[in-house]
Amino acid sequence: MQHFKAYLRDEDATAQLGAALARVLVPGLTIYLHGDLGAGKTALTRALLHAAGHTGKVKSPTYTLAEPYQVTLAGRAVDVIHFDLYRMSSAEEFLDAGFRENFNKDNICIVEWPEKGAPVLPAPDLNVLLNVAGEGREVELQALSDLGSLCLDRLTFAAPPL
Ligand SMILES: Nc1ncnc2c1ncn2[C@@H]1O[C@H](COP(=O)(O)OP(=O)(O)OP(=O)(O)O)[C@@H](O)[C@H]1O
Ligand SMILES: [Mg+2]
Repeated sequence: MQHFKAYLRDEDATAQLGAALARVLVPGLTIYLHGDLGAGKTALTRALLHAAGHTGKVKSPTYTLAEPYQVTLAGRAVDVIHFDLYRMSSAEEFLDAGFRENFNKDNICIVEWPEKGAPVLPAPDLNVLLNVAGEGREVELQALSDLGSLCLDRLTFAAPPL
């Protein structure tokens, strides 16, 4: 599956998608989250991290730009770095902070506002597009690499019916 669309009627549905994504995470994955302010990018990331076993808070890294977490996937500790690049001011800021080094074969990087990181941001394996639609959200997932395809192929998610 290279492509997947669903309607998330409420935040609970977003949380269920986050949990479904948590089940298919693999080290090395980079996920871009696209969508306007309030589209649900942080809500999805929070659900994903909690489903992956993180028990603490997940706050939006609005000012720090990045927040690291550690989860256990298949018995192995994996760093998940949650970025919010909305307030990123320059490419130098990203590079000087050493953010690029986080994008490697071992970590999982989840990036809100990837548009702000171009052109220094490494390419994604998965694109998630969130859009407000009625009371809920439309979501589209796109695989952009073999690793991304591997994840989407294994994704099992049935959006709650309307
Ligand atoms: N499927 C859904 N239907 C309706 N509301 C939802 C849904 N999913 C999440 N929400 C709500 O939408 C809001 C999303 O806020 P969130 O902080 O996740 O947005 P964001 O995309 O990260 O925004 P920002 O760009 O400001 O970081 C929350 O109030 C959440 O409860
Ligand atoms: Mg956010």
